[in-house]
Amino acid sequence: MHEDVQKVLITREQIAERVAQMGTQIAADYQGEPLLVVSVLKGAAIFMADLVRAIDAPVEMDFMAVSSYGSSHESSGVVRVIKDLNAPVEGRHVLIAEDVLDSGLTLNYVVKMLRSRNPKSVEVAAFLVKEGAQKAPVECKYTGFACPDEFLVGYGLDYAERYRNLPYVGVLDPKVYLG
Ligand code: IMP
Ligand code: MG
Repeated sequence: MHEDVQKVLITREQIAERVAQMGTQIAADYQGEPLLVVSVLKGAAIFMADLVRAIDAPVEMDFMAVSSYGSSHESSGVVRVIKDLNAPVEGRHVLIAEDVLDSGLTLNYVVKMLRSRNPKSVEVAAFLVKEGAQKAPVECKYTGFACPDEFLVGYGLDYAERYRNLPYVGVLDPKVYLG
């Protein structure tokens, strides 16, 4: 375990098992129809990479980058698109892969934006959903794990761009941000 991690919440093995289940469920639900899996950079890229390999169906991938106005600790819900998707989503099944659904403000905005482009469908697959943290409604069709409202790192989740590469999800030791 990394010295900055207070405790491991979800192990590498638990992640692999759950993501495989999610992929099987998704493939079954779309019944062989082509799917565009979209993620918002950067945290979701790791989950997305595992998820698409667990979906036995025709899948394409695309990426967006957004920045949310306001302080770095709380998203404001006002989102600026830094990098849009490369391809149009009109008439396509879109599945947004998200690392963690926290306030939901960012994702609420992104879902609305993509829905306005006339896709066939838009659904959300969130690897983690923080319990009791949502401020904006986001309908999440696929959830990996519910997790406590604590600051987590690993499996894509960062603190100041670090720890994304930890193969497990852990609680960051407060000493790291309290100094
Ligand atoms: P929100 O749902 O708009 O509040 O923002 C969700 C985004 O905040 C996620 O995609 C992460 O990038 C980031 N985030 C939320 N909670 C955590 C955490 O515990 N650790 C690291 N990043 C987090
Ligand atoms: Mg982040």
